[in-house]
Amino acid sequence: MSDAYSLTRSLADAASFSVIDQARLELIAQCAARQVKVAGDFIELGVFRGGSAILLASAIKQYHAPCKLHLLDSWQGLPGLNDEDLGTFVAQGQFSESSEHAVRARLDDFGLLDVCETHQGWVEDTLPELHGPFSLVHLDLDLYQPTYFALSCLLLRMAAGGEIIIDDYGNETLRRFPGVEKAVSEIIAGSDWSIVESAGERDQSVRIARQS
Ligand SMILES: C[S@@+](CC[C@H](N)C(=O)[O-])C[C@H]1O[C@@H](n2cnc3c(N)ncnc32)[C@H](O)[C@@H]1O
Repeated sequence: MSDAYSLTRSLADAASFSVIDQARLELIAQCAARQVKVAGDFIELGVFRGGSAILLASAIKQYHAPCKLHLLDSWQGLPGLNDEDLGTFVAQGQFSESSEHAVRARLDDFGLLDVCETHQGWVEDTLPELHGPFSLVHLDLDLYQPTYFALSCLLLRMAAGGEIIIDDYGNETLRRFPGVEKAVSEIIAGSDWSIVESAGERDQSVRIARQS
């Protein structure tokens, strides 16, 4: 990939394959450009067709960062819902119309596959095998249980200066992902992590970082 592969171009490529709106994609791109300077790997949980993954991998390539991007998904769609997800509009099995093979082929088309490692399966099985340290996490699992599980593991595996973006935290009026908001609130309560930024048009994502 040439250095001319710009942020604007990778944002457009990501948007073609992502369910995430422009404002949230821009937050990911800005964080990725900053976090490539922190020692550690990038990791995304919830890949679907690879839209946001294109952005994360593009930053690694564009800045020649000595790290890789781990991509975790069941590629079977969402698992079952819990009581904490009551009121959400997503359903079990949603987002199943993709595959690890299709995402790898897409990343290859964009010249990004060499900085990526895909891990197919439930994050409850695949994440414990990955020890980090991670400089940037993009967490996009939509539901309470996997979000809670992933954050519990990841907070212990973050690099100094590492950051976590959680998609679909929601906002005060549209609570379309109540389980994600609950999981994040529970995990950061009493920890040294807090919400430092939010972005999004209809649904909002949040960036969490360690308080200094
Ligand atoms: C909203 S989609 C991800 C969207 C993607 N980041 C984008 O840019 O469009 C959520 C993904 O999380 C995955 N997922 C949810 N719970 C999971 C779990 N427990 N283990 C593995 N994958 C899971 C689903 O398969 C789905 O592909």
